[in-house]
Amino acid sequence: MQHGDTYRRHRPRRLRRTAQMRRLARETTLAASDFIYPLFVTHGATGPVPSMPGVMRTDVATCVALAREAATCGVAGVLLFGIPTTKDGRASAAGDPVGPVCQAVRALKDAALDLAIVTDVCLCSYTDHGHCGLLQNGVIDNDLTLPRLAQVALAHAAAGADMVAPSGMMDHMVATIRQALDHDGWTGVGILSYSAKYASAFYGPFRDAADGAPAFGDRKSHQMDPSNVREALREVALDLAEGADMVMVKPAMAYLDVIRQVRTRWPEVPLAAYNVSGEYAMIKAAARLGLADEKLATLELLTGIKRAGADRIITYHALEASSWLQA
Ligand code: PBG
Repeated sequence: MQHGDTYRRHRPRRLRRTAQMRRLARETTLAASDFIYPLFVTHGATGPVPSMPGVMRTDVATCVALAREAATCGVAGVLLFGIPTTKDGRASAAGDPVGPVCQAVRALKDAALDLAIVTDVCLCSYTDHGHCGLLQNGVIDNDLTLPRLAQVALAHAAAGADMVAPSGMMDHMVATIRQALDHDGWTGVGILSYSAKYASAFYGPFRDAADGAPAFGDRKSHQMDPSNVREALREVALDLAEGADMVMVKPAMAYLDVIRQVRTRWPEVPLAAYNVSGEYAMIKAAARLGLADEKLATLELLTGIKRAGADRIITYHALEASSWLQA
């Protein structure tokens, strides 16, 4: 037998010959249960978000209707963001027990939908200056902000949230929230921490939707430098030590290596990736311009995020992607 015949036995294309063979050999499969669907709820003006086709600011009833649709599709959870009608320096409306988020959480609980209810915990939509923390002499005071974040988390827990998701990248936010929840008896309420959240150019449309752009300056004093990955591992390690139940990398598309490194270092830890507003808007724009097939491009990107190591993907495409996966 010629040496050449030995390697000619190997024909990787056999596994790609038919759709059935490809499915047999598939390594990563997407499902609706991989997705978490973000929702924007308000007592103010409702309607479409211009920079995010298909995304709406909703009242409580519409929020529940969309969540019901998500549950019917098999989506794993919803992530609620509130848009308050008043903003001030103290973010007074954050954690308001009769504000839109707490009302929506109660309504979702009453509806007994088959999905998890997660709430964003940050101050940026509630402060008149748009920063994620309380200011002291024009700069964010980390430790002054922590008790406010704990209050917000407690309000969401009391309304019935299954999990709170602190997104402000304040040091010790997870420990502070965990301690407050446990102290008040909410030991069963989980924490999904935005552990490695980068100072990204891809949050623009979200800031439109949630009306949370900083009035001055930027978020680089708390969100991470896109150049760093070792720092992300340190952030994740600290959040796990502080009691995070699930950690997150955000955004997703430009940070697949970060997702992979977190997954490799902590094979056992539940990991979410946030496929953010700018990533969503980019695909919608490309599709509108005829530059990409939205369904194929979206499913490819979501598959890539999962293949990189994410267990769950927070995505505005959750409903559409779920319906494409069923078709
Ligand atoms: C608030 C928050 C932001 C996002 C989620 N929570 C915006 C920001 O940090 O500026 C972005 C989500 C998205 O772009 O889809 N801290």
